[in-house]
Amino acid sequence: MLKSEMQLDALTNTLRSYRECDPSVARAMPMEMYTSEALFDLEMERIFRQEWICIGRTEQVDHVGAWFTADVAGEPIVVTHAEDGQIRAMSSVCRHRYMAIASGQGTSRRLQCPYHRWSYALDGTLKGTPLMETPSAADGSICRLPSFSVETWLGFVFVSLATNPEPLAPQLDGAARTLAPYAMDDWRIAVAVDEVWPGNWKLALETALEGYHLDGLHPGPIADMLPSRGAKFIEATDRWSCFRLAINFESEFGAPTKPFADAMGGDDAIASPTVSIHPHVNISCSPAATTWLTFHPIDTGHTRVRGAYLVPPGEFERMHQTEGEVEMTTDAINQLNREDSSAMVGLQRNARSRFAEPGLLNEREEALVHFYRYLADKLSPDNEDQQ
Ligand code: FES
Ligand SMILES: [Fe+2]
Repeated sequence: MLKSEMQLDALTNTLRSYRECDPSVARAMPMEMYTSEALFDLEMERIFRQEWICIGRTEQVDHVGAWFTADVAGEPIVVTHAEDGQIRAMSSVCRHRYMAIASGQGTSRRLQCPYHRWSYALDGTLKGTPLMETPSAADGSICRLPSFSVETWLGFVFVSLATNPEPLAPQLDGAARTLAPYAMDDWRIAVAVDEVWPGNWKLALETALEGYHLDGLHPGPIADMLPSRGAKFIEATDRWSCFRLAINFESEFGAPTKPFADAMGGDDAIASPTVSIHPHVNISCSPAATTWLTFHPIDTGHTRVRGAYLVPPGEFERMHQTEGEVEMTTDAINQLNREDSSAMVGLQRNARSRFAEPGLLNEREEALVHFYRYLADKLSPDNEDQQ
């Protein structure tokens, strides 16, 4: 057995140990989980090239001609709203010589490759091949962009590279119920987030799976509003988990949310839910807004973090009519993300320490254990144990 295979074997054994462990005495994962190239390759193959991956909001393709691009496990993707009203997710690799036919976002009738200007309709059919008379190449029926399964859920756009993925929405029934009071289908992107964090995707995601770190990484108005002591793990399935944060309405950031909370009632009036959908989505609610983040692996030590601060349409209007409000919110979101991403630097640096030992998890970190179990299911499934 090669050394890398032995290491991978040891790591998947460790993951399996989380299946049976009592969460109240569970420990962090060993740091090799965040540095192993072999494990990273397995994650790409079995998770990011198979699962439903969240890449945007329906707002980004809410009219005919709108499109945006994304990347899933190294595959460049373009999402379009074609004339037939359908939202499609397709490979954006040109059928001529591999250039990405689109980047960023925009609105147009066609997508044109910048290299030799082949052009495609928004349903992926090839429409134009300048200076070429090969009829077969221009025949959309035999030359079109490969398409992928796409599903929208609460206004989020998910894509799967798998051939026949199981429909997503039924797997998230419970999560939809938890998020129902926020009715976020038509919420708007008030501040977009797109940055690279210097850490493994699992390290980056884990900051979003628990509220235990709030006092540590977010001292000041954020921890005043949502102190660590108020964080409480609620529930988990094999697809998602949820914890809640108790809001301090006396605090600077908490006070303005009180009317929204009062209007909601129930648990949400006092404690905002954070729902994490495996493998990489985090939806963190407060009564007047939602912070939505997705964690896309780049390599073992870098993660692209995309998402947005989402607000109800009325709140979106109000923010844009109030001078300085958008800038102030952007600063606050950037500050929050800077505090989380800065922790990555230290964590990733210590990932190779010979003295780094997995410590005991706090009860507020229980969602981590459920995420580790999910990883075990995907990377080391039961039927594989018997082989
Ligand atoms: S690579 Fe796209 S037109 Fe040549
Ligand atoms: Fe954080």
